[in-house]
Amino acid sequence: MIAETVHVDLPGRAYDIHIGPGLLDQAGASLAELGGRRHVCVVTDKNVADLHLAQLQTGLAEAGLTSEALALPPGEATKCWAELERTVEWLLAQRVERGDIVIAFGGGVIGDLAGFAAAILRRGVRFVQIPTSLLAQVDSSVGGKTGINSPTGKNLIGAFHQPSLVLADTALLGTLTPRDFLAGYGEVVKYGLLGDAAFFDWLEAEGPALAAGDMAARVRAVKRSCQMKADIVQRDETEQGDRALLNLGHTFCHALEAATGYSDRLLHGEGVAIGCALAFELSARMGLCSQEDPSRVRAHLRDMGMKVDIADIPGDLPDAAGLLDLMGQDKKVKDGKLRFILARGIGDAFITSDVPRDKVLGVLTDALAGR
Ligand code: GLY
Repeated sequence: MIAETVHVDLPGRAYDIHIGPGLLDQAGASLAELGGRRHVCVVTDKNVADLHLAQLQTGLAEAGLTSEALALPPGEATKCWAELERTVEWLLAQRVERGDIVIAFGGGVIGDLAGFAAAILRRGVRFVQIPTSLLAQVDSSVGGKTGINSPTGKNLIGAFHQPSLVLADTALLGTLTPRDFLAGYGEVVKYGLLGDAAFFDWLEAEGPALAAGDMAARVRAVKRSCQMKADIVQRDETEQGDRALLNLGHTFCHALEAATGYSDRLLHGEGVAIGCALAFELSARMGLCSQEDPSRVRAHLRDMGMKVDIADIPGDLPDAAGLLDLMGQDKKVKDGKLRFILARGIGDAFITSDVPRDKVLGVLTDALAGR
């Protein structure tokens, strides 16, 4: 299967996203085209290293590139100051120079941390994203958001630093657990819901085949998601406006993630899916879209075997006021007002700060009562 390409056309920082099965084997040739020293540093995690690092390093060696790898512990806790320091010091010890390339090889955690390390090392070195999870292939590896978490909240320390290339090898998705795959699928659904009703229609029809392993469907879904993200990032790289559309479902999601302690009670993509369903419920209650729309969102998530409602999250949660309070700590708060991404229908999302508190409380109260 020939790889597909999405071009991210940012002035002075343009790059390609290649999508398809088998790209890892060709990574050496793709990297060699970027120039720089013929020695690359790979930042990865231990799980990804066990599964795929040898394949990557063999491909690099075949193209005449030597490489060294740093394998960090897997998991969200790695996005912290201590692991960032360790990564930056390791890169310095590897004598990485301005023209060199750092490879971020893993899921969203590694992409964000390695990308941030590249952003601050010598005031910015180039990096290549080789995302291994569906979530990273459709969202976090594209668009240049990099960073780590603070004890105060997620992604509060970071920089915009665009990669020089993204290689999304869709064959790697075959080693994900069904739960991790479906969590990433939550972000795929988000694209249809926020801006492409025909894509959502297609996901309703093809989602089950895609989850079962249909490679052509996987490539198409990753490509459409990346294309939509690229279009938005080109319009608004640093999230002064439209880029916030990509946060559909995230105001609810971040509160639920905080309430579950960023643990595996709720994966980020699961929270996005639940958050999208809640955002559509809120939109319907505000008379912005029809009541059929949230029902249709929920039906598709249910068909895919995903978490759909707050009731699907195991364990205790705060009450509605407590969840609303957690939303108030979100990065998207502006002038003390919560910003929501709501929808006039499937594929037609918009950004607003004009959301009555009691409507949000009502949605949360009913969702919690369904538990
Ligand atoms: N994940 C949202 C963004 O990249 O803007």
